[in-house]
Amino acid sequence: MKMWAGRFRQPLDPEFERWQRSFPFDRRLIEEELAASRAHARALVGAGVLSQGELDSILRGLDEIGRQAATPEFLQDDEAEDVHHFVEKRLVALIGEAGYKLHSGRSRNEQIATDLCLYVRRSIDNLQRSLGELLETLVARAEKSGVAAMPSYTHLQPAEPVLVAHWLLAYAEMFFRDSGRLADCRKRLNQCPLGSGAVAGATLPLDRSAMAAELGFDQPTANSLDATSDRDFALEFVQTLSLLAIHFSRLAEEMILFSTREFGFVRLPEAFSTGSSAMPQKQNPDAMELIRGKAARVIGDAMSLAVTVKGLPLAYNKDLQETQEPVFSAAETMQTVVAIAAGFMSAVEFDYDRMQAAVGSGFMNAMAAAHYLVARGVPFRRAHEQIGQAVQWCLENHCELEDMPFGELRRFAPEADHDFYSRLTLDAVLGCHNVEGGTAPARVRHALAEARERLAALKGEQHAHA
Ligand code: ARG
Repeated sequence: MKMWAGRFRQPLDPEFERWQRSFPFDRRLIEEELAASRAHARALVGAGVLSQGELDSILRGLDEIGRQAATPEFLQDDEAEDVHHFVEKRLVALIGEAGYKLHSGRSRNEQIATDLCLYVRRSIDNLQRSLGELLETLVARAEKSGVAAMPSYTHLQPAEPVLVAHWLLAYAEMFFRDSGRLADCRKRLNQCPLGSGAVAGATLPLDRSAMAAELGFDQPTANSLDATSDRDFALEFVQTLSLLAIHFSRLAEEMILFSTREFGFVRLPEAFSTGSSAMPQKQNPDAMELIRGKAARVIGDAMSLAVTVKGLPLAYNKDLQETQEPVFSAAETMQTVVAIAAGFMSAVEFDYDRMQAAVGSGFMNAMAAAHYLVARGVPFRRAHEQIGQAVQWCLENHCELEDMPFGELRRFAPEADHDFYSRLTLDAVLGCHNVEGGTAPARVRHALAEARERLAALKGEQHAHA
């Protein structure tokens, strides 16, 4: 039986009927729908609509539906309009007419808002766990890399040496921020729409606080118009995921670049690569390319949501049904991206020798050289000019700054002394970036210890939501 056939004299156009159904995708929400229905059923007893016996039979029916939903065939139903209709149909099939009582005093508008919100909350908790594992991998690899150094780049041109650990922790920073945004989104979304009715609030005296508490929400939503049409939680979530996807895309881009023969800083794990059907020698970074590609989808999902909601009058409009799929797409895509990236990052090998060799040329100590002169009283602009001329001399003579004969050096930098050379070694250059957030080994050790603490705090929070 349709949920709304009474008012209609003509049957629906069959193609329209099929086309407007959301069950093919919202059946993902079956667990959430059952949980919200249990809470509503209990509130109906308090409101005097259900007897204790009817409640028991409804709860048994809902549990049975939950059990059967474990088999995918059970969720094949060409008649169900959406997950709400499906559960009602099945409930009535299991327990008879009493099943129809469950819909007293509620609307699918509040149900879908509740189900989707619960889905987002569950997805956030799952993603936080996976992000925690990825961060654990990044931090552990950074710890293991010790004082290994690599070039850093600006404009993709060699800039200054940094510790490999410093580079890995740069990505950890991004993912810590993503995790913080997810936690923030979770705090804000944790309000229960149940009891909002179709638009103006329920017509039965339902205990909204009890329903909210049963579903793990902090409190009931404050306004029924807003609650039944709000998808801010979905937008915030997917926008957060789009930023997460962007970070993964940047990491992937560097992995692809660094795995090229020309860089050779990382060796691709075979378990996360594929070959070419044409060129026998190839080992391609497909995992990273797909991760870079998936970002486009998630950014698109965020855009779809924003455009769907933009311009909707209050309150529920059927357009809102279109907010479901981008949420599922982004959540499911990112869940796999985080897992694959974590696997890749624990398996990828670093070629420290190649990295170290790359640091040895390309004048990555030129800035340190200029600051050596500054320490001897030379104004920075003049020091920059002098070292620039020294670099020019080296380019013409095919050597590095540390290879310059002292006499030549003095022609450009009269204030330089013999200790100039000892300031240009890798250790000296790294060591001079000795500020908070800098790459001096002592600073990086401190950053690693802090990352460990933040990771522990993250795991503590996850534990609280488990
Ligand atoms: N399947 C619908 C959706 O996802 C459920 C809400 C339907 N409400 C309505 N008034 N037709 O939006």
